[in-house]
Amino acid sequence: MLSPRLYKRTGIYDFFMKSLGYERSIDRFLRELPLDFPGKVRILDSGCGTGLMGLHFLQRFPNSELVATDLEPNCLRSTLNNADSRNLQTTRICCGTADISHPSQLTLLNGSSLSLETGSFQIICLGAVVGYANCTETSIRELVSLLAPGGILINLEMNESPSGKFVSRQYHYSNIALTRMKQVLQDSGCEVSLRRFHARHLPAKLTRVAVIAQRAQETTSV
Ligand SMILES: C[S@@+](CC[C@H](N)C(=O)[O-])C[C@H]1O[C@@H](n2cnc3c(N)ncnc32)[C@H](O)[C@@H]1O
Repeated sequence: MLSPRLYKRTGIYDFFMKSLGYERSIDRFLRELPLDFPGKVRILDSGCGTGLMGLHFLQRFPNSELVATDLEPNCLRSTLNNADSRNLQTTRICCGTADISHPSQLTLLNGSSLSLETGSFQIICLGAVVGYANCTETSIRELVSLLAPGGILINLEMNESPSGKFVSRQYHYSNIALTRMKQVLQDSGCEVSLRRFHARHLPAKLTRVAVIAQRAQETTSV
């Protein structure tokens, strides 16, 4: 049986993600998202696992830097190894452990603490992680507060199909309904869309759906 213990053995988790084609199908899905950020791009991958989402954007935007966090230090090491395999400079990556219940509070690999600044990220990526927060809604609100005006939060969430629910149960993943998640994001000042995966995104299509939220641009008062 698959279980969250698998996250501790990141080598095995990484092997499964690659050999089952998950990494490739998620990469393909992300490539199809039309995103354009002039200038410097700061990316946050919370609950990064093996880093597949954050590294995708790091590769896509040459003028970018990545903050990668996870509860498991092994995942951070795996993310750095995968950056090496993609020929990405690890100096562009800042890694720290963080609980998704308090996503802005990091402990860096050297043991020091770091608080992420509000409004400082153009891209926040999440994949099947906010369901591990003590309170998913609070976690989402805190994550949105880290988005810069016009910034995008891309959450490749567990979907509500029988296969998505089955895998969620195996991983002890309990999430709020997607309609509620959409509402929480809208109430936090975002425009939100749900984007389904298609056959070309198999096998990720079996378990994931994309919740995409864009924070409103700041308006100047007159
Ligand atoms: C299903 S994996 C997803 C990994 C990656 N985001 C992806 O989409 O492939 C869930 C990740 O969340 C991490 N995780 C579990 N509980 C967490 C928590 N309370 N805070 C932060 N990360 C957590 C696990 O270590 C694992 O890396």
